[in-house]
Amino acid sequence: MTAPTLLLVNGPNLNLLGVREPDVYGHETLADVEALVTRTAAAQGLQVRAVQSNHEGVLIDAIHAARADCVGIVINPAGLTHTSVVLRDALAAVGLPVAEVHISDVTTREPFRHHSYVADVAVVHVVGEGVPGYATAVDRLAAVIAGHADG
Ligand code: DQA
Repeated sequence: MTAPTLLLVNGPNLNLLGVREPDVYGHETLADVEALVTRTAAAQGLQVRAVQSNHEGVLIDAIHAARADCVGIVINPAGLTHTSVVLRDALAAVGLPVAEVHISDVTTREPFRHHSYVADVAVVHVVGEGVPGYATAVDRLAAVIAGHADG
């Protein structure tokens, strides 16, 4: 039997992790993030399908596709966090448990980063823990999926 699948979604500009504003986002790359999430999920008996795109519609299509075969979504919507009603609507539409992750502490950065359109459709929120925060999000989401916690 194949393991249940988590969808890992990384939004615009996260393909540049490691070189992009390393003082804010650190030196780890997107490949490091995807490896960490895959490893952490495997320890929870889950497999991972990872998508990163700089195009909102590609992310929305991936979220819609998750309806068919995923048990949860870990998402760092990046800048779309603060702008995208359609991304939020896609997450609400599929109805899967969602973990929202931000590498930096958006609550202490510029005011335009303080609002998240995704926050109230997510059951898990991990903010400002750096790349290791993705592992925290996987573990907390796995607990929700297993019915042991509500976020
Ligand atoms: C981010 C925070 C966002 O405000 C920003 O636009 C990003 C990354 C983070 O992981 O800290 O691209 O989501």
